[in-house]
Amino acid sequence: MKKNWLDEQIQKFSSLGGYVKPELHTDVLKLDSNENYVMPKQFQNDIITHAKKNSDIRGYPLGDVERLIESISKFSQVPPDMIGVGNGSDQILDLLLSNFASKQTKVLTSKPTFGFFEERCKLYSIPLISIPFSDDMKLDIDEFSKNSESADILYLDSPNNPTGFQFPKNKLQKLIKSFEGLVIIDEAYGEFGDYSLSNMVKTQKNLIVARTLSKSFGLAGLRLGYFIANQKLTDVFMKVLQYPYPLSTITIESGIIALEKSKLMQDTAEEIKRERKRIIDTLKKYDVFDVFDSKANFVLFDAHDSYKRVYSALVEQRIAIRKLGRIGNHEGCLRVTIGTKEMNSKFLLAIRDLLR
Ligand SMILES: Cc1ncc(COP(=O)(O)O)c(C=O)c1O
Repeated sequence: MKKNWLDEQIQKFSSLGGYVKPELHTDVLKLDSNENYVMPKQFQNDIITHAKKNSDIRGYPLGDVERLIESISKFSQVPPDMIGVGNGSDQILDLLLSNFASKQTKVLTSKPTFGFFEERCKLYSIPLISIPFSDDMKLDIDEFSKNSESADILYLDSPNNPTGFQFPKNKLQKLIKSFEGLVIIDEAYGEFGDYSLSNMVKTQKNLIVARTLSKSFGLAGLRLGYFIANQKLTDVFMKVLQYPYPLSTITIESGIIALEKSKLMQDTAEEIKRERKRIIDTLKKYDVFDVFDSKANFVLFDAHDSYKRVYSALVEQRIAIRKLGRIGNHEGCLRVTIGTKEMNSKFLLAIRDLLR
């Protein structure tokens, strides 16, 4: 073995830095991580109480993931053998990248795309073909078609984090049909968008749709992601690539109960969409901001050269949003998560006071 092998490996990894999490503030309104505080605390209490009753964590959860998959199957209306699970959709994306991609395979995606996905590609030295957003934060589907042949994997978060953009359904379907490699459509924010492509998986063998309970069900801390794909891909993923026990017993039992309460989730998603419109319309009244349309549970806006000041002033008011900085030609981007009516009103009032 080479003498400094380990030092060199550590040096290589430390130069990457990793995924940058939001700044940690205590006792603030959390509008920085696209979580969902509109789902009531009572929902969480109910599912945890039930999960506790149904769990014996002295044993491994042998056979239990299968019951969860049955519940996801009913909820998503796709057969259970087309469903796999992971420790958050983060882990599903990571396993797909670490096993299907390499230095030799190219990933076609947008710029920006989900930050963790980009970081993982860097970690595995996977080359990216990144299509930039236009100044009004839209993507040109033709740019993707033009580059399709040079790519092995197509990854799109639909809606996109951090812009909130979603392609019209028919355009995205057409692109997917023409793509010959692996297609990963990340629908972490799918319930807030205009459509889901989970049904397309039944006819499109190279398509994986990744989903999560983190956003729509307000269960980010549970770490429960799933995907829908054709049987062969699902089988190999769950038997060979996935860990033997990727989800804790508590996560499995909580997930089963959460999915039974999907009506509450759907009502909440509708409320978030209404509040999203209120935030966009109000922010648009200030001509110091460029505000972008969104199909997700957050809104991106450019506060230009005052974005750091806006961010810090909000923190002083105990409101945390996400400071992103430059995206394309937009120098001062900020992203605010849609919270409860009350949280959103506090945010909008703080902005009003700041700009007075
Ligand atoms: C686009 C996108 N995909 C996936 C995830 C990860 O979600 P999970 O909590 O299921 O790991 C996120 C989280 O922010 C996201 O923004």
